[in-house]
Amino acid sequence: MASKGEAEGLALIQKGLQSLKDVNTPHVFVVMGASGDLAKKKIYPTLWWLYRDGLLPPETHFVGYARSKLSVQDIFKKAEPFMKVKKGEEAKYEEFQKKNKYVQGSYDGTQDFSKLNKAIEEIGSCNRLFYLALPPSVFQSVTLNLKAVCLAKGERWNRVIIEKPFGHDLESSNKLSEHLAALFKEEELYRIDHYLGKEMVQNLMVLRFGNQIFGPIWNRDSIASVVITFKEPFGTQGRGGYFDEFGIIRDVMQNHLLQILCLVAMEKPPSTEAEDIRSEKVKVLKCIKPITMENVVLGQYTGDPEGEGDAKQGYLDDPTVPKGSVTPTYACAGLFVKNERWDGVPFILKCGKATNERKAEVRIQFREVPGDIFTKGELKRNELVIRVQGGQGEAVYMKMMVKKPGMSIESTESDLDLTYNRRYKDMKFPDAYERLILDVFCGSQINFVRSDELKEAWRIFTPLLHTIDKNKPKPVLYKYGSRGPKEADELLRHLDFHYTGTYEWNAPYSQL
Ligand code: NDP
Ligand code: BG6
Repeated sequence: MASKGEAEGLALIQKGLQSLKDVNTPHVFVVMGASGDLAKKKIYPTLWWLYRDGLLPPETHFVGYARSKLSVQDIFKKAEPFMKVKKGEEAKYEEFQKKNKYVQGSYDGTQDFSKLNKAIEEIGSCNRLFYLALPPSVFQSVTLNLKAVCLAKGERWNRVIIEKPFGHDLESSNKLSEHLAALFKEEELYRIDHYLGKEMVQNLMVLRFGNQIFGPIWNRDSIASVVITFKEPFGTQGRGGYFDEFGIIRDVMQNHLLQILCLVAMEKPPSTEAEDIRSEKVKVLKCIKPITMENVVLGQYTGDPEGEGDAKQGYLDDPTVPKGSVTPTYACAGLFVKNERWDGVPFILKCGKATNERKAEVRIQFREVPGDIFTKGELKRNELVIRVQGGQGEAVYMKMMVKKPGMSIESTESDLDLTYNRRYKDMKFPDAYERLILDVFCGSQINFVRSDELKEAWRIFTPLLHTIDKNKPKPVLYKYGSRGPKEADELLRHLDFHYTGTYEWNAPYSQL
């Protein structure tokens, strides 16, 4: 049984879907790379949840494609641990499984793609969605073959969903963009950055542009610094081979954190239409100069001999990581948006693996109160924190000064606290992938990255990445389970982020 909040959420999405003019048209969702990790952990489970909740067009079919000799049953067996099938859902799950097919084929042979096309044609005339859950090495041949053999014609549409990495620097990304632009129209391409599907990332637009109180203070006059943080309490866990090629800057900072920065810093778009929002994001990116090494700290985790389980293993102990690798697993970087609103305000992007907690947040630190009349040192800077994940879940809180309750007139730190799981108790927050896949069905590109955004993002990071690739600076070591290197705190201090260590949060009784 869905809770009240869940049912309300579902009804809303279903209403949105009904308004789609082609909701009753058959659709096929093709998972390219169906045998892989992403397909197993994210794509198949997401498709199942959407199907279970009746959020997909009623006539939707699914086709997996990969090189391995597999059956639909094999795919489902692999994905089973991530599907979270509840008691009572078995029949629906069975029904979902029956809507699936699998086609085995290579990524470079047109013949095999004809087999795939045949399997799609058996479904009948349908809109086609292709999810490319594939390594970059086969990207070009797969898209060429899809274009040559597998696209719907006439009144039916095609949409191609692309996973990162979108290249590894400006040049390779531009090459990929040119390749794709020669095959598909921009409105057919959906470049996923799953952070754009997260509840609190989407909330940034409403918080900023739906509240009169924030407009006048959202600028260099009131804001001293902005810190955007991503932390994970685990290391590469056998995924080191992939990670080592990219490092944390390409894995998280250049995409997830930079996208959040855009939403924090952009001007108000003329409307909530995808092109209006994406154009504002591009304008912000254009105002950012390439990052230089002097505003960067790189780190790599070492094992903690006193830690438990995985924590004993440093990055270099991962057998899939090349010996002596200097790939950063932590990075902290200061960026500046040189425009009238933000000139001089540091935007600090901070991300790390194997740290002390799982957390993603935006922290906006305001300037000191001018002309302080209180006891020296009592007043602390206000902070607005938008917590995307971690701690007790999604939250927005404003750290502020109040009079210490009682007879004295001393001031003390307190907060206005909106903790989502308390305020919206029964509400189901859809997973980022659920929202994004649904967006593709609905043809909404708001939460997908446009090619010019991508180009700007790589322009900002490429010189730094090339310097790192060429000079191989030794990252500062930090212990698994720590907050990261102390050099990052020094950089933050230098970039005008004040940490006082005086704030204490009192969890409400219901959360203790
Ligand atoms: P703090 O003042 O404790 O920390 C502020 C920031 O300073 C953190 O982001 C932390 O970043 C950073 N920091 C910590 N130590 C240092 C250091 N030595 N030098 C430089 N920077 C440092 O405030 P918080 O807002 O983090 O709140 C404290 C706790 O209360 C948190 O656990 C928070 O989740 C909780 N809280 C929960 C609320 C809710 O659930 N609604 C509301 C308010 C607070 P880093 O990530 O690098 O560690
Ligand atoms: C992915 C990165 O894009 O995001 C991973 O490749 C990272 O390294 C993941 O772990 C984090 O996503 P989330 O949604 O768990 O915060």
